[in-house]
Amino acid sequence: MDRKLLNGRVAVVAGGGGEIGGAIAMRFASEGASVAVCDISLEKAEAVAQAIRQAGGAAIAVQVDVSKEADCENASRVAVEAFGKITTLVNASATASPDGNVETLSTAAWREAIDVNFTGVFLMCKHTMGHIRAAGGGVVVNIASSHGHFGLPGRSAYCSTKAGLMHFTRVLAIDYGPHNIRANTISPGPIDTARSLRRFGTRENSNRVRGVGQVLGRTGTVEEVASVAAFLASDEASFVTGTDIRVDGGQTAFKGTALADIHQGAL
Ligand SMILES: NC(=O)c1ccc[n+]([C@@H]2O[C@H](COP(=O)([O-])OP(=O)(O)OC[C@H]3O[C@@H](n4cnc5c(N)ncnc54)[C@H](O)[C@@H]3O)[C@@H](O)[C@H]2O)c1
Repeated sequence: MDRKLLNGRVAVVAGGGGEIGGAIAMRFASEGASVAVCDISLEKAEAVAQAIRQAGGAAIAVQVDVSKEADCENASRVAVEAFGKITTLVNASATASPDGNVETLSTAAWREAIDVNFTGVFLMCKHTMGHIRAAGGGVVVNIASSHGHFGLPGRSAYCSTKAGLMHFTRVLAIDYGPHNIRANTISPGPIDTARSLRRFGTRENSNRVRGVGQVLGRTGTVEEVASVAAFLASDEASFVTGTDIRVDGGQTAFKGTALADIHQGAL
């Protein structure tokens, strides 16, 4: 018996050229899904799509700036042209917005975070939900963050978009439940990626600031996020909608880092 979780599914993965999005695209393909890997960087999207094809899966790469409506519309059109339908949407793209309080953060940086992390998800959903409905139903998985559950100094834009994404997704689930479409967020915590290393400088600093070591004693891997995304996208999660799953190693269960440490590390 073929036990692949996502046989016959067609997934659009926005931010699929990134580390978490790429791991999700790879895992979905290994579970039998065809994947449209979408990213603002065509090079990164193509690298992931190629890795999937080399492993025997089906994937295409599509260049998409999720803050541009025409790009989002084009992505779903291209995915349907390639694979005949869309059943699954993952939104994993995000900007690396700078730090700053409301006085020092530029309005342009604030708008960019909202445009990409929040409106980008709205636009990808706007141009994909009709296709998922036409396929008879499916699943949306939006990647939020533990920073949507608690704040970090200087990160009002990023934290707000991630908190907003959780509520947006709850309403999406309510609106589309009658169409047999489930929608959930995943809130990754301290995941070991180049993005987090860039942000916090060293792994030691990253671990200290992000409260790693207090519960499971380690950072998470992109594969550990991808396995929860595969679960949510599959029929194994058939009664799970309108909720958030924290993949954070207990970070939000026990946030014991001293604020002084956080301030020091976030600067
Ligand atoms: N790494 C972590 O520890 C962590 C923790 C919590 C949440 N997250 C979230 O997980 C997701 C993936 O993060 P990651 O760590 O893999 O980072 P990443 O930088 O590797 O991935 C983000 C991807 O989004 C793409 N992107 C940026 N702007 C875009 C745009 N306008 N249109 C389309 N694509 C765009 C980038 O090119 C990149 O490939 C993000 O939503 C991030 O907020 C990450």
